[in-house]
Amino acid sequence: MRIDIITLFPGTVDAPLGESIVGRARQRGVVEIAVHNLRDFAEGRHQVTDEPPFGGGGGMILKPEPLAAAIGAVRRAGARVILLDPAGRRFTQAVAGELARLPHVILVCGRYEGVDERVRQHLVDEELSIGDYVLSGGEVAALVVTEAVTRLLPGALGDEAAAERDSFARGLLEHPHYTRPEIFRDWPVPPVLLSGDHARIARWRRLMSLWRTWQRRPDLLETADLSPEEQKWVDAFNQGQAPSNLIA
Ligand code: ADE
Repeated sequence: MRIDIITLFPGTVDAPLGESIVGRARQRGVVEIAVHNLRDFAEGRHQVTDEPPFGGGGGMILKPEPLAAAIGAVRRAGARVILLDPAGRRFTQAVAGELARLPHVILVCGRYEGVDERVRQHLVDEELSIGDYVLSGGEVAALVVTEAVTRLLPGALGDEAAAERDSFARGLLEHPHYTRPEIFRDWPVPPVLLSGDHARIARWRRLMSLWRTWQRRPDLLETADLSPEEQKWVDAFNQGQAPSNLIA
């Protein structure tokens, strides 16, 4: 897969994309990522990328010509051009899964008060928002999308199953994790995790994943795909039962 990022501030995205899972995925050729400076596509001695809005009002608007030139220069057949903008469709794990199946994604970072409307209407395929808050530009949003998508690509994670287990992959929050020491201060690890009984551990994890989701994000349970046993557990939570009452 290839991801192109078009931004006025390449430095904002360059460093994070060289580290950790994404950095390693790039080195291994799992994903090809290129960052482009929008200013390089602006004409004239001053390479102007933004201007005040027609009709007055404050702020600066990204001009259409440099964006059109940048998108035109990086676009390949089958590409999806995405503008990061708080007015876009909400980015979720499901959208990350959708993008991870595409050969080429172009992320366009908006800036200042916005981008010329003709860019939205004619040059981008869709707009994505990472949440209901306003950032100064789309750069951090582009990083969020790039990281969420890259970790879904085959070969990106050392442990292939890790992405599957992640929060939201099944529509539920993740179960708690513990590591050494077995007792930290006077807080012990749940004994089941030390039992060596893999079936019991897996069942405990499913129960705790469900419990955490029921406590913190009950909205997710409306669309989660639950087994009959899991549905019984949810019914028991609703009747006031704690997880410790539900399995041996
Ligand atoms: N640009 C500014 N705010 C944003 C947001 N919440 N999501 C995506 N792009 C943005």
